[in-house]
Amino acid sequence: MHTSGKHLWKKCAISHISKAETKCFEYAAHGRFQPQMDAENCLLHRSDAPRPAPAEQVFHLGQSAERFWGLHRAAIRRETADKKKGFYFLPKLDYPITAGVWPLFSAKNLQAHFHFHHREQLDALNARVLGTMWEAQPLDVILRKCAMDATQVGVHHAAVQHFNHCLFWRCLIPGGAAMLPDLNEAFTVRFGSIEKLISLFTGHCELLARHCGSGWVFLVWAKENFEILPFPAPGGTPLAMDYTPLLAIDMFEHSYMMDYGDDVAKYVRNFFRAVNWKVVHQWWRSCPR
Ligand SMILES: [Fe+2]
Repeated sequence: MHTSGKHLWKKCAISHISKAETKCFEYAAHGRFQPQMDAENCLLHRSDAPRPAPAEQVFHLGQSAERFWGLHRAAIRRETADKKKGFYFLPKLDYPITAGVWPLFSAKNLQAHFHFHHREQLDALNARVLGTMWEAQPLDVILRKCAMDATQVGVHHAAVQHFNHCLFWRCLIPGGAAMLPDLNEAFTVRFGSIEKLISLFTGHCELLARHCGSGWVFLVWAKENFEILPFPAPGGTPLAMDYTPLLAIDMFEHSYMMDYGDDVAKYVRNFFRAVNWKVVHQWWRSCPR
């Protein structure tokens, strides 16, 4: 059954969800922006925005996105493509997969998630780009171009899942990393405190799980400030909205059922005990201002 973005928005409506977030639901529901709306949507948060540039120029991260998130060393092997396995592959994690990510994931959960669920999306991506114009293209190029192409929904969904998972793994470190003072101060200015940020983020996660089933929730830098954006399944990425993702949590059931059952609040609470704030800080400091 087709579910429109407007319907999802109504289902998930709460007072503090912004207009930009509404666009996320529409984006996720359709798997793409409407071509005529896309440039406008990307600039919603800028009241003084100039006339939208052509689609090729709207996304400020462009070709540098892989380097920005360090994915160039992890998720793509352009020069050494293995034709049997494809161009895209599972990233090398910053921590041993055999130990899990304390206290968020048990070793069993992490290994199943990484080696089965992530690989499933990866295999789908490699299969769908094989022999097409997308083969060997950087992930961010696929994400931004397919987001506007109704004929490429399958490629786009697989690329979204691969990109989001790569980002998710990089946001984590066993035991978490200490918050940096200037990032903490920026969060305090925007949300009131880090505790309020976590509370708001958790609220979005619970709302998404309760009303939309599954998806992703992001903390992003929306050019001028932080925003928290939910992307109900099949999911999307803030990259295609010209926002810079800083933190992502996988809200698909395969991510938390094994360790938490349906206790979403505990899953999100432990997520924040395993966040690598050092990496988030690095990305935030690199954001275009
Ligand atoms: Fe996942």
